Formats: sequence, structure tokens, C-alpha cells
Amino acid sequence: MATTKSKTQHSNSQLPTPNPSLLREHAEQQFAHELVELAKADTRQRPPNWKLSPWAVAIYLLGGKLDNGFEVTPKYIGNRRLMEVAIATLATDRALLLYGVPGTAKSWVSEHLAAAVSGDSTMLIQGTAGTSEEAIRYGWNYARLLADGPSMEALVASPMMRAMADGKIARVEELTRIPSDVQDTLITVLSEKTLPIPELNTEVQATKGFSVIATANNRDRGVNELSSALKRRFNTVILPVPNTIEEEVSIVQQRVTSLGRALELPAEVPALEEIQRVVTIFRELRDGVTIDGKTKLKSPTGTLSPAEAISVVNSGMSLSAHFGDGSLTASDLISGLVGAVVKDPVQDQVVWKEYLETVVKERDGWKDLYRASRAML
Ligand SMILES: Nc1ncnc2c1ncn2[C@@H]1O[C@H](COP(=O)(O)OP(=O)(O)OP(=O)(O)O)[C@@H](O)[C@H]1O
Ligand SMILES: [Mg+2]
Repeated sequence: MATTKSKTQHSNSQLPTPNPSLLREHAEQQFAHELVELAKADTRQRPPNWKLSPWAVAIYLLGGKLDNGFEVTPKYIGNRRLMEVAIATLATDRALLLYGVPGTAKSWVSEHLAAAVSGDSTMLIQGTAGTSEEAIRYGWNYARLLADGPSMEALVASPMMRAMADGKIARVEELTRIPSDVQDTLITVLSEKTLPIPELNTEVQATKGFSVIATANNRDRGVNELSSALKRRFNTVILPVPNTIEEEVSIVQQRVTSLGRALELPAEVPALEEIQRVVTIFRELRDGVTIDGKTKLKSPTGTLSPAEAISVVNSGMSLSAHFGDGSLTASDLISGLVGAVVKDPVQDQVVWKEYLETVVKERDGWKDLYRASRAML
């Protein structure tokens, strides 16, 4: 039977204090007040070493109103069930793999899950082609190693080892970029829940509460297959691109608003219609057909994810704030838009020109975009 943790775990003293001078705060810093309120309201059973119950973690991720009227902002916008499956997985002994095309909030969800479950999203291993076994297991402080020989003091623990010792969540970003033989280091960790240290004839056994959240995408170049032995140790949750245009607009709107605030951009939050326009263009080009289903379109080579729509609007806001009158216009948006669509200078240029002439030019109220884009060509 799992023990229920005391209700005061997400107290102010245990969470990092917010620091507005940082360019980007960790989720547990930025949303510390929400985590504290949730912990206070949370009377349900918490799995061992969890800061919140799975129920409260779901509210943290998906947003909601607490009994005392406190509003929790949604972090993930989309299918509720996917998040419930992800959270429930972490309460078992299986690891979680968030999989999907780029820009579908895999890293974002992974960070927020770790923040809500462990109060700490910083146990992070960034997967690259150069990630070594040491980065996953442990390294050595060579000065101490040479001076005193191998000892626990000379050992440099990896984030994985620290998460195991502390019963927290370790995050592995871009798992499939890691060379396959190095990926397999994770097998012992995930199945035996231990990290052997043969040099010291000892091991670090995982404390309850430890789990791993990995993210991977299938689109980028240079990805390695996930071995089937490793795949079997993960529950995979596939994060989709947003189903509806309303969902995608609200993702972009929410992130743009909070990014604008964080960057202290002296620009107005863009009108909903501007965001709708960007998202419409992204969806039509991605799907290869106009929203009304009447005109077939060629799709560009890039992914055109919500993440890119966010950055198009955000760059437009910066242009309008610093070189315009603070309200977003078509000419502020267009360079970002073209940059997002035209990733391949030859192929995508053709796609964009065709879209411009067949769709943008003909659409009511879109003349400003057409003119701004023509001016750039
Ligand atoms: N469904 C969604 N709900 C909320 N935010 C979203 C959603 N989809 C995308 N975003 C936003 O998109 C941005 C990028 O997401 P993130 O970096 O997590 O993508 P990713 O899936 O990790 O991409 P990559 O494969 O390139 O690493 C984040 O700021 C996130 O807020
Ligand atoms: Mg990512």
C-alpha cells in the first residue's frame, strides 16, 4: 500500500523561488504559486514521494478551478485522456515516452509533469549524437580520482543517478538522437531500477518516486531507432498536432500572451483574428487543402507546428513593438511566416507562391497579407 505523503510538501520553502530577472524560469519556479495552492487543496492519496496526487497533477497540466476559487492555468491544451494516461504511467513502475512530430509540446509536457510530480524538472539529460554512457550513468572528477583513487567523493553523478537517489523524475530529451548502444544503458535502470558502480563494487538503487520521462520525435534527421528491448520498457503516449483550429488558436494565443509578458514586450497582445490567420495558413499548408475543402494545395517540407506559429506571432510582436506602433500588422507577420514556410529555398518557395496567388490573394480581408508578401519577394 502506498503511503500518503504529508500535505505540506509543496510548501514555499521547498520550491525554488520565482525569479523574474531570469530569461526563462523552470516550470516549478514559474508556477510555484499554483503548485502550492494545489498541494493545499489536494486531499487525495499521493504515490510515494510524489508532491501531488495524480488527480492534482492532472489539474496542474490541464487547468481548472479549485474549491477555494483559485484558478489553475492550463499548460497542455488538447486531449485530456492522453495526459491522464501519461500521469497514470508515472505512478506505475514503467517509464513514459512522449512521442510525436516536432513542436507538439513533448518537452513542455515532460517539464511540467516533472515539476508537478517531483517539484523539480531539472534532472535533465539532453540526448545528442554525442551523448555518452557517462552522461546517463556517472563520470569521475579526475583530479580526485588520481589523488585518492575511486571513491563516492570522486564520482560525478548524472542527473539520472541523482533522480534515482532522490526518488524524482529524470528527463531524457530526444532519446532517439542518442546512439543505440548508449540508449541501452537505460535498460538496467528501467528494469532493475538500479545503477551499478562496478569500480566501487556498489550500486545506486532507485528510491520510490523515481521514473523516467523521455521525449522523441520521428521527423528530424539523424534519429536512431529505439531498440525493441528499450521500447518494451516504456509506455508510449503520442502527442498529436492539434485536432481543431480552435484548439490550435488557443494554444498559440496562450503562449504568445505569456511569452510577451515574460519578455516584457511593449506590444499589445495581438488580436484574435491575426492569430487565427496565422494558424489557418499553417493548417491549410500542413493538410494540403484549404479549410473549406475546396482547393488542394502543395505542402511545404517543414512541419509547421504550433511551436512555429507561436514564434511567428512572437517575432511579429517584437517587430511591431520596436519598429511599429505596437499593434501587429501583416507586414510584421510576413517575414516570420515566410521564414516558417520556406525551409527549402527552391521547393518551398514554389509552394508559398502558389498559396499566395490561389488562396491569400482571393480571400476576403487578406489583401494586406498579399501585398506585404509580394513586397518581400
Ligand atoms: N497542445 C499544446 N498545448 C499547449 N502548448 C503547446 C501545445 N502544442 C504545442 N505547444 C507549445 O509549443 C511549444 C513547443 O513545444 P515543445 O518544445 O515542447 O515541442 P516538442 O514536441 O518538444 O518539439 P521538438 O520535437 O522540436 O523537441 C511550447 O511552448 C508549447 O507551449
Ligand atoms: Mg522537444
